[in-house]
Amino acid sequence: MEELRQKYIAAIAEAADEGALEALRVQAVGKKGEVSLKMRELGKMSPEERQVAGPALNALKDEINSALAAKKTALADVALEARLRDEWLDVTLPARPVRRGTIHPISQVTDEVTAIFADMGFAVAEGPQVEDDWHNFDALNIPGHHPARAEMDTFYMARAEGDTRPPHVLRTHTSPVQIRSMMKHGAPIRIVCPGRVYRCDYDQTHTPMFHQVEGLAIGKDISMANLKWVLEEFFTAFFGTEVRTRFRASHFPFTEPSAEVDIQCSWEGGTVKVGEGDDWLEVLGSGMIHPKVLTAGNIDPVAWQGFAFGIGIDRLAMLKYGIPDLRAFFDSDLRWLRHYGFAALDVPTVHGGLSR
Ligand code: DAH
Repeated sequence: MEELRQKYIAAIAEAADEGALEALRVQAVGKKGEVSLKMRELGKMSPEERQVAGPALNALKDEINSALAAKKTALADVALEARLRDEWLDVTLPARPVRRGTIHPISQVTDEVTAIFADMGFAVAEGPQVEDDWHNFDALNIPGHHPARAEMDTFYMARAEGDTRPPHVLRTHTSPVQIRSMMKHGAPIRIVCPGRVYRCDYDQTHTPMFHQVEGLAIGKDISMANLKWVLEEFFTAFFGTEVRTRFRASHFPFTEPSAEVDIQCSWEGGTVKVGEGDDWLEVLGSGMIHPKVLTAGNIDPVAWQGFAFGIGIDRLAMLKYGIPDLRAFFDSDLRWLRHYGFAALDVPTVHGGLSR
């Protein structure tokens, strides 16, 4: 018994890990372990022998079990010490400088524009960028032969071979969202629809993808006067200064009458300044919604009327933030983004301030 005791106590002291320890446990006090086998021999002993051997074997078993438990704790302590040594973190070190991203001027201006119109009771609507030609053209009173189709330098989607349906297009303007919103919500309605639009064009003032915001207001007696007030209110809020506007008679297939709107500006020293000077800059198209367009949107043109407008968001951003080249908007140049970008958590509101 003393031999067993010395053998296991020594082996347990030397066990290198939990696996070795478990092997020793099985070998000594497991069901078929050496100590257990000895206990089975008790039955063959005389009562006197048993009285001595029994308690001694039990004591041996207890001793081995406690040695196992103590060694297990010791091994766990060693492992913990090792982890504490390896996985340390010096919380007194200064944080590594992280370059924070910025809000793109287009996103910023989109938020500013929707905040101003939301303040006047306009909800925000969206539509698909891949549009069918009915929503993009026909429903807006631009039939197949109409020159506006060619003028817009439309991108057509590829069709499967043998498909004779009209091809889908990348929407050339946000106006199809007018139709979708009329069909979905009916009248009365007051919405703005910001988003990406596409035309095959590329120079200093044109990119194949750019941004517009469409406006739409339909009611029983909404008039051109309401349009004028809403737009003037918008420009004043957007540029943060009183801005004179000029409505010029124009033509769009989807409005009658139609007007292009210019804002007052000066060109001194080669840079534009909005809200001063004697020059004019065209910023949007607008008009009273054509009865055929209302009909296409399932709205009765006898009972309802309204105005619509379409503004170029990129142009607004260039004007407000003095950005000279449109193409730079979409170059993803980090230096440009840091220079013209906006702080991420400053959400523009009319009362809290549009841009900080
Ligand atoms: N869709 C026109 C364009 O992209 C802009 C426009 C003009 C929108 C007049 C309108 C509108 O809603 O009434 O050139």
